Amino acid sequence: MQELLALTPMRCRATLQPRDPRRHQSAIMKTIRLTTRDIVAMKARGERIAALTAYDYTSAQMLDAAAVPLLLIGDTVGMVVQGEATTLPVTLEQVIYHSKMVARGAHRALLLGDLPFMTYQVCVEDAMRNAARLMTEGGVGAVKIEGGIEMAPTIERIVKAGIPVCGHLGFTPQSTHALGGPRIQGRDPSAAVSLIAQAKALEAAGAFAIVLELVPALVAAEISQRISIPTLGIGAGPHCDGEIQVFHDLFGLYTDFQPRHTRRYLDAARDITAAARRYATDVAARAFPGPEQTSDLAPEVQAQFRSLLQTA
Ligand code: KIV
Repeated sequence: MQELLALTPMRCRATLQPRDPRRHQSAIMKTIRLTTRDIVAMKARGERIAALTAYDYTSAQMLDAAAVPLLLIGDTVGMVVQGEATTLPVTLEQVIYHSKMVARGAHRALLLGDLPFMTYQVCVEDAMRNAARLMTEGGVGAVKIEGGIEMAPTIERIVKAGIPVCGHLGFTPQSTHALGGPRIQGRDPSAAVSLIAQAKALEAAGAFAIVLELVPALVAAEISQRISIPTLGIGAGPHCDGEIQVFHDLFGLYTDFQPRHTRRYLDAARDITAAARRYATDVAARAFPGPEQTSDLAPEVQAQFRSLLQTA
């Protein structure tokens, strides 16, 4: 309970008066959803931010129960759920569809929706319309856009329209073909300095946070120190203000490859495969379903049924 109170946004604490324990519990259940302001405040308080991707109702429920404060409905859904080779084929409709599921499962976390490839690059008007759809139809509290200084005017317009935006620098998966695949960005000094300038441009444009993907640790540390908004690292070392990881990587559900920047906290694919094998063996051996999973006619009804069968 202490843990829940500690993680409850400041403004709802006043509503949590523990008199009747059941009312107290239900007050916590009604906790207001975190906003981008809460996430920015975590950096100001020196609290590290643990963010994860989520794509469906059940996983969102689990992550909310674990008090993960930020859930990204990422276009990685294309790779880890749909089995595509890149994030490029993912559509806005799909991100909206998955965002709705996550919004039904998670009631506390800030939901961040990824704007897919070419839903914001063509023109600012497109970007604003699509960001608004993701927020109003998908139920997210913020959107994420990949790119540096060139995206600053778009970010500024979206933010001014009332839609919080998270930037994404370093390796930007929607540019995988141009970047030659997933590789560390900002390795040489001038590219590293340029990354700092890009981060400052996104902050000036009004972004509330920036994902730093595949960036050298020292560069990520410098960026994190030089801007006031949180950095969320993925393959960017330990000095970012928070970390963001892909659900299926962290819990061992995606086994095509394991990125170096992830750590397996669970080997779910191995465990599920073993469990499925036990299930298949039990079905083959008529050991499942058993008496606990079975309902049948009452003995007297069985007798009537059998006698009716004889005349049928
Ligand atoms: O789409 C996604 O999951 C992402 C993360 C890799 C940060 O952008």
